[in-house]
Amino acid sequence: MIEPPADEGSSGEQHARPLTPESIAVIMDGNGRWAESRGLPRARGHEEGAETLRRLTRHCVARGVRELTCYALSTENFRRRPPAEVADLMRLLQLYLDRNREELLELGVRVRFIGHREELPPEVRESMERVERESAAHDGLVLRLAINYGSRSELVEAARALARAVRSGELAPEEIDEERLAAHLHDPTMADPDLLIRTAGEERLSNFLLWQASYSELHFAPCLWPDFTPERLEEAIASYAARLRKYGAVRSSDPVPRPPVVDAEGR
Ligand code: IPE
Ligand code: IPE
Ligand code: MG
Repeated sequence: MIEPPADEGSSGEQHARPLTPESIAVIMDGNGRWAESRGLPRARGHEEGAETLRRLTRHCVARGVRELTCYALSTENFRRRPPAEVADLMRLLQLYLDRNREELLELGVRVRFIGHREELPPEVRESMERVERESAAHDGLVLRLAINYGSRSELVEAARALARAVRSGELAPEEIDEERLAAHLHDPTMADPDLLIRTAGEERLSNFLLWQASYSELHFAPCLWPDFTPERLEEAIASYAARLRKYGAVRSSDPVPRPPVVDAEGR
């Protein structure tokens, strides 16, 4: 767990954050509106959105971001969107993975997925598994795509796994702590996002990373996802950094932000 510096009150916890976000999460919203405002089918918006993801991934690699976790499809989208739109999204996801696989591998990106993949069409799952397997040894940016993902069901599954461990006698109820619960989330290697961005002017989490984003700084961008350029990402990062600088300004004797506090695991 991250400890605030000893001489700070509880607000000193802000110093525990790196000054530039190492782990960024994005709710990629607004593809449909982007297309509809141009009189185009919604699928065109999703296509454009995939291109935005490609540009942003390159930018994050160049800038040394460690993890980029993107909400591509929620469990609610999968269940509640018209079947034709879900089919378009599945087709585009597979196209995105197949077209970008080589580039992602060349960039040294490690691709991972969270969400219920067992409900996805087998050919999409195959493309997912292929890029995951081929990039598994990479140590560059982790690009984590949330597909058919819902945070509440992820937490329910973790609770069930812990309950089973208690029933079988492997674990006592009082041994359940934050670390043990987090170990049962879809990707236990995931770092908590420093910065969580949502586009398209909506200011809600829509069942994304409810556990992992407990202390994330939130940034809501008005522009639609297909219009979210690397410059917009830089604005979000600048806003994140400014929040830390503002805290630093409270201590006029300490104008230079101090290095982040790290815990025993080096986070
Ligand atoms: C986000 O764009 C992508 C998915 C949810 C798949 P939307 O499709 O939600 O776009 P809007 O919100 O209708 O504009
Ligand atoms: C959340 O966006 C999911 C993704 C961006 C993939 P939605 O557009 O589905 O969220 P709501 O329905 O507006 O809350
Ligand atoms: Mg939306």
